[in-house]
Amino acid sequence: MADFSSLGLSDWLVKQCTQLGINKPTPVQENCMPPILEGRDCMGCAKTGSGKTAAFVLPVVQKLSEDPYGIFCLVLTPTRELAYQIAEQFRVLGKPLGLKECIIVGGMDMVSQAMALSNQPHVVVATPGRLADHIRSSNTFSLRKIQFLILDEADRLLEQGCTDFTKDLETILGVVPAKRQTLLFSATLTDTLHDLKNIAMNKPFFWESKSETRTVEELDQRYILTPEKVKDAYLVHLIQTFTDEHDDWSIIVFTNTCKSCQVLTMMMREFNFPTICLHSMMKQKQRFANLAKFKASVFKLLIATDVAARGLDIPSVQVVINHNTPGLPKNYIHRVGRTARAGRNGVAITLVTQYDIHLVQSIEAQNHAKLKEYPVVEKEVLKILTQVNVTRRQCEIKLEATDFDEKKEINKRKQLILEGKDPDLEAKRKAELEKIRSHKKKFKQRIEESIQKQKRGQLKKKLMKRKQIKKRATKVTA
Ligand SMILES: Nc1ncnc2c1ncn2[C@@H]1O[C@H](COP(=O)(O)OP(=O)(O)OP(=O)(O)O)[C@@H](O)[C@H]1O
Ligand SMILES: [Mg+2]
Repeated sequence: MADFSSLGLSDWLVKQCTQLGINKPTPVQENCMPPILEGRDCMGCAKTGSGKTAAFVLPVVQKLSEDPYGIFCLVLTPTRELAYQIAEQFRVLGKPLGLKECIIVGGMDMVSQAMALSNQPHVVVATPGRLADHIRSSNTFSLRKIQFLILDEADRLLEQGCTDFTKDLETILGVVPAKRQTLLFSATLTDTLHDLKNIAMNKPFFWESKSETRTVEELDQRYILTPEKVKDAYLVHLIQTFTDEHDDWSIIVFTNTCKSCQVLTMMMREFNFPTICLHSMMKQKQRFANLAKFKASVFKLLIATDVAARGLDIPSVQVVINHNTPGLPKNYIHRVGRTARAGRNGVAITLVTQYDIHLVQSIEAQNHAKLKEYPVVEKEVLKILTQVNVTRRQCEIKLEATDFDEKKEINKRKQLILEGKDPDLEAKRKAELEKIRSHKKKFKQRIEESIQKQKRGQLKKKLMKRKQIKKRATKVTA
C-alpha cells in the first residue's frame, strides 16, 4: 500500500499529516493525489467521511510550497460552516509554510472580507454568493492567476435546488483563468457528471470508489414506521433511551424546515436535553457559535436543517435521526454521512410515516442498501405521547408569539430584491395565481358534483324501472 511520500508529498508535509493522525492515505487520497500533482483536472467521488478534503488540500499545499504566491487557490463550497472547516484544514496542514487563507461567506462583514482579499491570501475558501458579490462590487483583488479551482460538494453547487448557485458560478468562472486545474469532489457526483465535465475541461481524471452500497459499511441504517402524530414521541423516546444507555453521546436530528427545527429545539429543551439548533434563519454568528458548542460537546443534541447535511466533520456524532424522510436519496446519503466517519461506527434512524414509504423504497434502491426496522417498545412511546404533543403545542404557541414568521417574510422579500424582483408585484402575482387555482378547484368540484348527481339520478331511474317490472310480474302471476 502506498504512503504519502510515495504519492509525491514532501517530508515536512508528511510529518505534518502524522501530527494530525493522518498516517496512511485513504483510497480517494491514494488515487486522486498523484494525477492532481501531475497537473491534471480531477473528479473524485468517494463515500462520506473518506478523507476527500485532504485529497485536495494536500496536493495544493505541496504545489504552493514549490511556488508560493497569492491568490493561488480558490475553493467553493455550498455552506458557510463547511467553508470554515475547509479553511481550517488548509491552515493546519499549511502551517509550516505560513499559508494565508481567507474565508468569504455570507452573513459576515463585507468590508473586512474585502480587506482580507486585497491582502493576497494564498487560498480563498468561499460560498459562491458572497464571492460573486465581491467580484461585482470591487476591483481590489484578482483571481486571474489562480492555479487551482476546487468545487467541494460539486454536485450541490451545480444543481438547481432551493439555493441556486448558477448565476454566481457564472460570475466566478468569468474571472478565473481558463488555464487552471479544476478539482471536483463529492460523495454523490455521478448524477451531475455531465455538467461537471463542462467545468473541468482539461481531460479530467475521474475516480469513484467501487462499492456495492453508496453509504459506508460501518453505518447501521434503521427505520421506524410511525403515524405522523406519534413521530415526536418516538423522537423523545429514542433520545431518552440513548442518554440513559450512554454516558458520552452526541446526536444530530435533521428536519425539513427552519420552523420545525426551532420548535423541536424548544421542545427538546423542555425535556431537559442539552439541545442547540442550526438553520438558515439564524444570524451567522449564532450559527458558528452553536456549531462550535456542539463540536465541543457542550450541547450533545443538534437539531438542524439540511444546511448541516453536507461535509461537516464531527467525529463524536454517533447517531443521526431523520425526523422527516429526505425526499432525495442523495440528501439521505449526506445526512446519514454525518456519523460513521473515518472508519468509526454509527447509527442512522429514519422516522417514516405511511406517506413516506415510497421515499424509503427509492433511497434503498439508489443506495443499494436495505434499511432495517429499529426495535422500539411501543408501549413506552404511547406512555409519553400526550405529554409530548402538549409540549409541542405549547412550543408552537410560544414561537408564534415571537417574530419568527415575520423574519421569514422579511428574508423572503430580501431574497426577491436581490434577485431583482419587486416583492409587492410578486405577492400580487402569487395571489392572482392562487385565485385562479381556487376557481379551477371550485369548477372541478362543481363538475364532479353534477356528475355524481347525474349518476344518482340514473341509478334511481333504474331502480324504479326494476320495481315496476317486478310489480307487473307479480300482477301477471297473481
Ligand atoms: N488518511 C487519513 N487517515 C486517517 N484519517 C483521515 C485521513 N484522511 C482524512 N482523515 C480524517 O477523516 C475525517 C473525514 O474526512 P473528510 O471530512 O475529508 O471526509 P469527506 O470525504 O470530505 O466526507 P464528506 O463527504 O462527508 O464531506 C476527518 O476527520 C479527517 O481528518
Ligand atoms: Mg467533504
